Amino acid sequence: MTAMGTQSIKVRDVFGANGGAPVEYRRVYVWEMPVRAYHWINAIALTLLCVTGYMIGRPVRMAYAAEAYRQYWFGWVRFIHFAAAYVYVFNFAARIYWGFVGNKYAKWNNFFPLTKQQREEIADVIKTDVLQVKMHGSISTGHNSLAAFIYFLTFLAFVAQSITGFALYSSMSTSWLPRMFVWVVPLLGGEMGVRYWHHLLLWFFVVFIVVHIYLSFYHDYIEGRGTVSSIIGGWKFEREKQKTGNRQ
Ligand code: HEM
Ligand code: HEM
Repeated sequence: MTAMGTQSIKVRDVFGANGGAPVEYRRVYVWEMPVRAYHWINAIALTLLCVTGYMIGRPVRMAYAAEAYRQYWFGWVRFIHFAAAYVYVFNFAARIYWGFVGNKYAKWNNFFPLTKQQREEIADVIKTDVLQVKMHGSISTGHNSLAAFIYFLTFLAFVAQSITGFALYSSMSTSWLPRMFVWVVPLLGGEMGVRYWHHLLLWFFVVFIVVHIYLSFYHDYIEGRGTVSSIIGGWKFEREKQKTGNRQ
């Protein structure tokens, strides 16, 4: 922990669990700048990819007065898809690198439930967030173990979407990166098969984004320690005497 991460401040306990008296909170620097930059570049690129991808898969019929050869709007939709695709792939590669050199909250081992404590925390979060049979679950400073494992599944979907995307792109580009994925097309039963999987994964991302944003706000409200602002400024707040489930 850096000196920056040990500053103490007094914050009013929103739930009044301390009889309304101020409670000691510690400010912890959790998400470093590269993690935050990755998060927002990824969020923007992925949103553009979902919107333009949907339009490619289900083009709207538009009646224009102009001659067809004078229109290029669909070309722009495809251009945005391909440009965002490159940003998204290299941004993700940078996050993988940061998983090896970043702080303990960014490290790759957070994403796998390798320890007994992580597995217990997954069961605890399911009881609290999903089944709602428990009022207060354990609180982790970084990702909770269930969230981290879901991010791991999302990272697998990132890889699958990049492979199928570049496989589709290989028939229209001579560049080295798409050409590396030519072999995927016969493997998935031709272009139609690749397009099918590429399209199906769109809906995985749509569901992930909706649930993810909902849960970010939910945890921010329930825990009252700056979950949403942490992915903007990097800081979270930890109650001095309540460091349960903090495996870090
Ligand atoms: C992860 C985010 C992505 C999403 C949600 C997404 C979504 C989509 C969707 C829904 C389609 C239309 C498929 C159809 O029904 O025909 C599509 C087409 C396509 N995507 Fe993606 N895609 C993503 C990433 C990528 C990446 C990384 C590449 C790599 C270059 C890529 C390249 C392509 C290509 C080449 C097409 C076909 C364009 C055409 O035929 O005009 N996509 N994408
Ligand atoms: C397209 C939209 C989004 C995508 C694809 C996305 C994806 C992700 C991913 C992959 C992570 C893990 C970060 C890492 O360790 O590298 C993450 C973390 C996080 N995201 Fe998002 N995000 C999106 C939008 C948002 C929005 C709009 C908010 C805020 C309202 C948000 C709040 C957070 C927070 C607070 C974390 C840290 C969560 C934790 O403590 O486990 N995200 N997001």
